[in-house]
Amino acid sequence: MRFQQWVLDTCFRPYDQDWLNYQQEMALRHTSLKKNKTDNAQSAPTIHLRHIVAFGAVMTDSEIIKPFLAKGHNANDVDRMYRAWSKSLWLQIALWTEPYTNAGEAPNEW
Ligand code: HEM
Repeated sequence: MRFQQWVLDTCFRPYDQDWLNYQQEMALRHTSLKKNKTDNAQSAPTIHLRHIVAFGAVMTDSEIIKPFLAKGHNANDVDRMYRAWSKSLWLQIALWTEPYTNAGEAPNEW
């Protein structure tokens, strides 16, 4: 599943140019420019940027995320993993704003 792969990539992949290109592709796949073209997904015609930003609050909520990180780790490590996860998510959300804010791409889908 691509979402599962993305979790693994967030944790383990080097954040290099390939990763930046992959970020751009994921952003585009939430806009009408590329949405539902991969795997012929059936869903809304676009995901608005405001919904991605709002979902960021859920994906970085410590009460939601920490239980996933807690398995077999001490509280200090869980805290550090949680902070690293949250930083990465906000970085990715910042990168995903590009097609929504760039004239000529999907700026009406904020
Ligand atoms: C923090 C916000 C979000 C994250 C981290 C996230 C993560 C992802 C990832 C990793 C993929 C697979 C992309 C790929 O491999 O190319 C994906 C695709 C998708 N996401 Fe999101 N997503 C977010 C927000 C949302 C929201 C708010 C919605 C809907 C309300 C949504 C709906 C979808 C759909 C329908 C796809 C399939 C797109 C396609 O290939 O046609 N996502 N998302």
